[in-house]
Amino acid sequence: ELNGYEHYMLKEIFEQPTALSTCLGGRIDTVNNKIVLGGIANLTRELTRAKKFIITSCGTAWHAGLIGEYLIEQIARIPVEVEYASELRYRNPIIEDGTFVIAISQSGETADTLAAIEMCKERGAVVMGAVNVVGSTIARTTDCGVYLRVGPEIGVASTKAFTAQVAVLTMLAIELGRRKHVGPAQTAAYLKELQAVPGKIASVLNMAEHIKQIAIEYSAENNWLFMGRGLNYPVALEGALKLKEISYIHAEGLPAAEMKHGPIALISKGTPAVFVATRGSQYEKIIGNIEEVRARGGKTIVVATQGDDEIKRCADHVIYVPDTIEEMQPMVNIVPLQILAYYAAVHRGYDVDKPRNLAKSVTVE
Ligand code: M6R
Repeated sequence: ELNGYEHYMLKEIFEQPTALSTCLGGRIDTVNNKIVLGGIANLTRELTRAKKFIITSCGTAWHAGLIGEYLIEQIARIPVEVEYASELRYRNPIIEDGTFVIAISQSGETADTLAAIEMCKERGAVVMGAVNVVGSTIARTTDCGVYLRVGPEIGVASTKAFTAQVAVLTMLAIELGRRKHVGPAQTAAYLKELQAVPGKIASVLNMAEHIKQIAIEYSAENNWLFMGRGLNYPVALEGALKLKEISYIHAEGLPAAEMKHGPIALISKGTPAVFVATRGSQYEKIIGNIEEVRARGGKTIVVATQGDDEIKRCADHVIYVPDTIEEMQPMVNIVPLQILAYYAAVHRGYDVDKPRNLAKSVTVE
């Protein structure tokens, strides 16, 4: 079942191009220039008229939700709130007419997510699921949904489910945007870029050996920072979670500009600081943040756009990824961070598929 891979996590990281193609398969209709999501077809009109979305989930799925927030607000111009399910369920949320809930879950069995869904339903919300496991409790409890279609995910650290969760939210954002105000040329551009994402992930996988060397070099460091801005901020959070859950290294993810408000005090000589700094609307700003870390002796590991030679001036290590439009970049950018976490944990000698204290699905509170 491991197909020659040493761990399920590695296998699942490398499966991402095909898993994502399956997730996108049949859903990108280039002939009619639209997205087709059968599982929500009956409710697409209501979703298009939504006044607000509440996205709820836990862990990695919550990070996917944060990316969904940026995308739905940016592309469809509908307000989004993202809530940890464990908080939402006890928060007495305000569900008004036109509020839709999106619940994201790989397993479809997470207790907090399920409780949040039930509570929102009771208050009149329509709930859409983005779930991987077919027929799971959450899949059955939601009113409509889009399956991730990535096949079984065995490694406790979520990888391919994350990229698919982001892909589903991207498709939703594009389709809602198209129905509201995004013109055909822009829609066509989105669809074309989305189709190209699996191939771009495949080229990141070719960099695994380079990323492994970086992981080994810093695997003895016990404090890492992960930073990004805009859509790359949730990517940084997810990179930090991957590292902490399998390598037991303390890692903190944060929006790069927040560094100045406290976390920069953590930087000392040799502290690894991973920046997700692909070209985009906040590129110049993040370069400034990288320089600030460098000036304090931190070691900068930078995920950057292929062809960006200037970045070498402020980076100790560069991991190049293919360029895509800013909205699609998170699916590509997370992959080197998954690989980095994987090799750091393997080098430290841990069982990456079964990290201590963790279960694949958290079915108790
Ligand atoms: O099955 P779910 O997507 O609902 O699980 C949510 C989290 O428990 C899960 O993403 C967890 O954070 C992963 N171990 C992260 O890799």
